[in-house]
Amino acid sequence: MSSLVVKDLCKSYVANKKQNNVLRNISFQIQEGEMVSIMGPSGSGKTTLLYTVSGMDSMTAGSVDFFGKELSKLKANDISEVRLNEMGFVFQQMYMLKNLSVYDNIILPAYQSKAQKML
Ligand SMILES: Nc1ncnc2c1ncn2[C@@H]1O[C@H](COP(=O)(O)OP(=O)(O)O)[C@@H](O)[C@H]1O
Ligand SMILES: [Mg+2]
Repeated sequence: MSSLVVKDLCKSYVANKKQNNVLRNISFQIQEGEMVSIMGPSGSGKTTLLYTVSGMDSMTAGSVDFFGKELSKLKANDISEVRLNEMGFVFQQMYMLKNLSVYDNIILPAYQSKAQKML
């Protein structure tokens, strides 16, 4: 079974009454343990793809199955739970909480997740 199955994924943005179809019918599968990199020029949709397959942003059409869970059918809270416990992200920008130390920023997700048993 594939860990990630993306089928006919579409993502469009509408800005100034113009529709920008950034992702048009993207389909691929990734197996557990597989290493994959996405390459493309700036503005080609790499970040949009990562945001939609992780549920951080909504999809316009298509489906994303992550370990048997269809993300478009999950509530926002449940997607957050999946992201917290089953996904890891290193963002281009730091998304630090200013009122916490660097150390606390780093361990905060572990406190919120099931991994807190290990702390
Ligand atoms: N939140 C947004 N609202 C409107 N358009 C966006 C938004 N995010 C990205 N885009 C547009 O989607 C396209 C792809 O952007 P992006 O996914 O950031 O590309 P990449 O990561 O490959 O540089 C660009 O044309 C960008 O302007
Ligand atoms: Mg990007």
